[in-house]
Amino acid sequence: MPDQTITSVSRENRKFRPSAEFKAQANLGSEALYKRLYAESVNSPEKFWSKQAKEHLVWRKPFKQVLKWQAPHAQWFLGGKLNVAENCLDRHLGTQRENKAALIFEGEPGDVRTITYRQLHGHVSQLAQVIESMGIGAGDRVAIYLPMIPEAVIAMLACARVGAIHTVVFGGFSPEALKDRINDCKAKLVITADGGWRRGKVIELKANVDKAVEGTPTVQTVMVVKRCGNPVTMKAGRDVWWQDTAAAAAKPHKAKAFDAEHPLFILYTSGSTGKPKGVLHTSAGYLLGAKMSAHYVFDLKETDRYFCSADIGWITGHSYVVYGLLANGSTIFIYEGAPNQPEPDRFWQMIDRHALTILYTAPTAIRAFMRWGDDYVRRHRLDSLRLLGSVGEPINPEAWIWYHTLIGKKRCPIVDTWWQTETGCIMISPLPGVTATKPGSATRPFFGVVAKVVDDQCREVPRNSGGKLVITQPWPSMLRTLWGDDDRYVRQYFSEFPGRPEIYFTGDGARQDEDGYFWIVGRIDDVLNVSGHRIGTAEIESALVSHPSVAEAAAVGRPDELKGQALCVFVTLKAGYAASEELKEQLRSHVGKEIGSLAKPDTIRFAAGLPKTRSGKIMRRILKEIAAGGAVKGDISTLDDFSVVAALQSDE
Ligand code: PRX
Repeated sequence: MPDQTITSVSRENRKFRPSAEFKAQANLGSEALYKRLYAESVNSPEKFWSKQAKEHLVWRKPFKQVLKWQAPHAQWFLGGKLNVAENCLDRHLGTQRENKAALIFEGEPGDVRTITYRQLHGHVSQLAQVIESMGIGAGDRVAIYLPMIPEAVIAMLACARVGAIHTVVFGGFSPEALKDRINDCKAKLVITADGGWRRGKVIELKANVDKAVEGTPTVQTVMVVKRCGNPVTMKAGRDVWWQDTAAAAAKPHKAKAFDAEHPLFILYTSGSTGKPKGVLHTSAGYLLGAKMSAHYVFDLKETDRYFCSADIGWITGHSYVVYGLLANGSTIFIYEGAPNQPEPDRFWQMIDRHALTILYTAPTAIRAFMRWGDDYVRRHRLDSLRLLGSVGEPINPEAWIWYHTLIGKKRCPIVDTWWQTETGCIMISPLPGVTATKPGSATRPFFGVVAKVVDDQCREVPRNSGGKLVITQPWPSMLRTLWGDDDRYVRQYFSEFPGRPEIYFTGDGARQDEDGYFWIVGRIDDVLNVSGHRIGTAEIESALVSHPSVAEAAAVGRPDELKGQALCVFVTLKAGYAASEELKEQLRSHVGKEIGSLAKPDTIRFAAGLPKTRSGKIMRRILKEIAAGGAVKGDISTLDDFSVVAALQSDE
């Protein structure tokens, strides 16, 4: 592992203790109790999780065995049966939550909808009947490609209700990317909308689906929510309007119970090689992790109105917009559009308008707010807020302090939550009533999480030195496999240390400080984290070389104040093609078309050759240094042709 990826240079000594006031009202306010529960959770995990599963979930049939661990494959709560949608909705009916808002929605144009638990249950039951009548049942795959509108939540829960496996594809992905995901999981049904609002314009989702499904033989039905009213083509026999079908179903829907290990969803995420990985999560363990972590980390109260700005196309939207929050009977707020539409104070306006109490967002968004200026924030009261969260990438201390001061008014604890698509729920995070926070650190592991920083032999490294972040015991919400590729699951996550198939390797570098707090340094594989989204360099490179002009491409990250990492690509052209600004633009839009705008390179540099080892491997470490504008340091003895590097450096 190259040294510089794990050398942590940040030293942040400020500590922020929970206020006495916050502590007094917290779901967990005692350090002694936290320590006792944590010790129990890792020393007697089966006892601990058995108790939690009985307390937090509604079972139709009790489980017989808590854990079956045949490393690296885990099964939790064997013999138990439940319905995930019932755990998010039906359980609240007949309680004081029945007429409570489950969901408050604000569209980008300013339209607002409030949906109670009773109403949400009604919508989900209706859709469940509709999709069942289309022949969708247990184990079938359904692709969801929607804007952040209530129907996205309804669609996910309706799939869960009938035992279908959803795969939500972020609306910013291109038709090509959507097609690949549909084909990988062989979805029968696609749920989409005519369009969604973004920066005052309509994103034409249905048109994208039309292109995607030209190449997806398994898709039988496309269901379309009318959102923007933009013109769309409806193909007879395949396409149906959501609004028409929903009206047709009216009977109460009896939900079936499914095994604890019944697959709940597939979510595609970037890997370092080739195609995206279909991370598979199952029912009971996932839901328990999401529900319990939301309860403790967000300190959820009956009166909270919780706003997470993540799209449901990402794991954060799955666990901490939909499943974890609704299972707790919370009120979720969702917003369709851009944070700077019509003005950069849209979030602060909405927080005041809806009296939102918790905000969970990403460092990249926080840095954008900082850049837009404090005046936009100061116009608003923000006095309803009581807790702030951060997720997706390391938060730099400056952004943390800004968030704390300007948004939290020094009153709201900040929970910096480290986790991954694969972990299903938050793994390392402060508990806001007990943990003293340090800006930039995700602090301590959550219940049941045994996290360690180790060297290449899996030996724990001394405090304050960098290493690989691993999880050494199974946990209920862990991924179970990669869809259709269990070998890759084993290789990718459980093969880092020979002879230790039980060690989960996160792909992140980290260090633990003198207090045992974790500081995440970033990815150590060829995966970039751009604006809190993981992007595999291999995918970008293969998108580039699919352009007729490109012979070879290498993608690397360079530090970027706003996005965390910016995407820089080096491209060599085929004979007969000349470098030009116009070609750069063409390549940018080509990547946008192949993958989606989020993967468009920030910088494109043409090169006569790329630095390679003698065996022909591109030396990305060197390109990273060049992209960052620095001199090429470190060992270049394996470099095949130094003149290539000299040319690249003289280029700038
Ligand atoms: O590198 C870590 C970073 O995001 C990666 C996981 O990305 P993804 O699966 O897309 O999930 C993002 C939302 C959970 C991690 O391997 N990461 C996530 N949260 C943090 C973080 N890095 C530092 N601090 C965090 N709080």
